[in-house]
Amino acid sequence: MFNANYQKRREALRSKMAHGLIIFPGNNEAPCNYPDNTYKFRQDSSFLYFFGINQPGMTGVIDIDSGEDYLFGDDVTMDDIIWMGPQPSVKDMAASVHVGHSAPTGELKKFIAEARRQNRPIHYLPPYRHDTMLCLEELLDIRVAELKKHVSLELIKAVVVLRSVKEPCEIEEIERACDIGYEMHTTAMRLCKPGVKEQYIAGVIDGIAASYGSMNSFATILSQNGETLHNHNHGNILEAGKLMLTDAGAETVNNYCSDFTRTVPVGGRFTSRQKDIYNIVVACHDHAIDFARPGQTWKEVHINVCKVLAQGLKDLGLMKGNVDEAVAAGAHALFMPHGLGHMMGLDVHDMEGLGQIYVGYDDETRPSDQFGLASLRMGRRLQEGFVITDEPGCYFIPALIDKWRAEKMFTEFLNYDVIETFKDFGGIRLEDDVLITADGSRFLGQKHIPLTVDEVESIMNE
Ligand code: GLY
Ligand code: MN
Ligand code: MN
Repeated sequence: MFNANYQKRREALRSKMAHGLIIFPGNNEAPCNYPDNTYKFRQDSSFLYFFGINQPGMTGVIDIDSGEDYLFGDDVTMDDIIWMGPQPSVKDMAASVHVGHSAPTGELKKFIAEARRQNRPIHYLPPYRHDTMLCLEELLDIRVAELKKHVSLELIKAVVVLRSVKEPCEIEEIERACDIGYEMHTTAMRLCKPGVKEQYIAGVIDGIAASYGSMNSFATILSQNGETLHNHNHGNILEAGKLMLTDAGAETVNNYCSDFTRTVPVGGRFTSRQKDIYNIVVACHDHAIDFARPGQTWKEVHINVCKVLAQGLKDLGLMKGNVDEAVAAGAHALFMPHGLGHMMGLDVHDMEGLGQIYVGYDDETRPSDQFGLASLRMGRRLQEGFVITDEPGCYFIPALIDKWRAEKMFTEFLNYDVIETFKDFGGIRLEDDVLITADGSRFLGQKHIPLTVDEVESIMNE
């Protein structure tokens, strides 16, 4: 799709690396219950970023020293053509993305063996699929259990620098994914009525992604038990008075993602107690977008949002004491035990497979081990072109409330008697996708999914 860009990206990567070869194993088909019955194919995101070929069974190699690029893969046989139809040759695929050399997969082993004989450094990213691990084991003669130790930190860091700043063509693709996300979420809002089964709505919105030839960017979370952060159980029948939390997004045919969350009242009208909590989460969500700009760390934005949450809960009588001290101590994490957001791009949690410590943190901004803050996937200083999610939440998790209460956790900041009365509340999360611009930030997507109480009630009662 962005064919001329791949060569530029490979050159940019080469310029950041000292010596040797870089291997990018593409993904293979993944069997579901027998070899020919496969899950929908998903290419590796870094392979897509540098080689752009959305076919299984390919390996890209970048020679840092000679400046040459290689694509290894096998042309289809007549049997394949009979079952799958005609497919482009490996040579044509290589040429389409300006890769100068192509060869059958069988040549890859010899090529890498020769580089190893010359003691050339061979760089690879952390593998996450077991068949890829077996392939690397065979190529590099490193046991699967040892592969992690030998991944190239130099390569991880170079890839993170490049993939973190989105090019205009990538932002356009993410906006397309957001537009599909808009349709998914507004449809879920319209269908959210007492008596409807969660799995029906989840199925309809997953079908919307499929109808664009795309797919979900992750398994849809849709539940009236939104206090379970990643609830993939869609077995409930919606009940009046509950809140339905939907966290879902699309991945375009070119594999760029969206990730949105909305929480709406089953039946279309918030109760006054729901409105009170909901409006605090809206304030958190809005605060993040006001605060996010180049130069600001996302960790500071997260902490400021937590203060908005704690202040709102204090005003309602659920928290008490000094808000800054409560947040510094981590008391608010009873209600928001996750981070404010993450990078997003070709992966919904962009580059998470490369190691969160390298994607979300750096020498200046270090991760925390405090409960809640430890789950912040992205903390470092923002740059123009970053795409991140803004996803505050407020949850009442009965088991966590019971545990903290029994352990007398943060009794100076938490009013357990009041909190106890919210144990049947559920949870609220609101999530939008945000581009960091030259002087601030903006939401991605042509249309903003209804967010405020009035906007949500209005679409649900049309
Ligand atoms: N879909 C999980 C998340 O919002 O990060
Ligand atoms: Mn999400
Ligand atoms: Mn998210």
